[in-house]
Amino acid sequence: MAKPVLLVTRRMPAAVEARAAADFEARLNADDAPTTPAGILAGAAGADAILCCPADRLDAALIAALPVSVRVIGTFSVGYDHLDVAACTARGIPLVNTPDVLSVATAETAMLLILSAARRAGEGERMVRAGKWTGWTPTQLIGTEISGRRLGILGMGRIGRELARIARGFGMQIHYRNTRRLPPELEAGATFHDNDDSFLAASDVLSLMAPGGPGTRHWLNAERLARLPRGVIIGNAARGSIVDDAALIAALHSGHVAAAGLDVYDGEPRVNPGYLALENVVLLPHLGSATTGTRDAMGMLALDGIEAALAGRTPPNLVRA
Ligand code: DGY
Repeated sequence: MAKPVLLVTRRMPAAVEARAAADFEARLNADDAPTTPAGILAGAAGADAILCCPADRLDAALIAALPVSVRVIGTFSVGYDHLDVAACTARGIPLVNTPDVLSVATAETAMLLILSAARRAGEGERMVRAGKWTGWTPTQLIGTEISGRRLGILGMGRIGRELARIARGFGMQIHYRNTRRLPPELEAGATFHDNDDSFLAASDVLSLMAPGGPGTRHWLNAERLARLPRGVIIGNAARGSIVDDAALIAALHSGHVAAAGLDVYDGEPRVNPGYLALENVVLLPHLGSATTGTRDAMGMLALDGIEAALAGRTPPNLVRA
């Protein structure tokens, strides 16, 4: 029996490509060339399934134009704000993603951002690399301890809860803002806030862990920044679209925000040049889930979901938006 045809938009981990090649007639992207809408449409001709990534944009027009052969789309990510889910639904194309398997890796990156920003790791690294370090001094690159501080987590889903677990180990007090209060076993002693005012006032450190999309676009704006305690540390390992860059850059300049650690950017891979000019920002290239085990698990989960959908089953990782 002929294997189903799978378009894979970007280079995948070796184990994932090996399975794709075994289970499908796989159209792989050996050069890892960035995709264009035209390239996706051409590659999808006659394909049964597409495995895409957050760097691809599958908007309503592109999804409407997909060939009728496409019966399922998988995204190599938990986030799906790069896809028009309503357009998939309208076409009757199920969408699968990669929840759970990346929660620990992404939460570790969120903690890395907080620590790097609080302890001025980016500045120190740049100083050493530039040959400008002349030796230890009592006043050099003085940062902030996070132990005992209050960590505000916006979005207490699976990744937010992993971050809370890690941060408790650093002696942080956990506060959270979420669409709904969690049951006690998931809340694990964290303080729920049903309004922005009390949440922002309680955040010595703020970590953005909410999904991207219209509901959270520019949530962190000038008005909310002003309600954070002066000297707050901010981390974003979720989506760049949650932040109004101009407002955050202004707050970093004024010192109202002491430092920020960013792994994601509005319109990435473009990075607002205002960040590049600031010393008190640590900038990472969207590597939240980038560990070997996690990326392998993401690919396998996406392929599981694609195969289930093609077999007429309801995949456990079906996106229900
Ligand atoms: C996701 O999964 O949404 C991340 O942004 C990529 O790991």
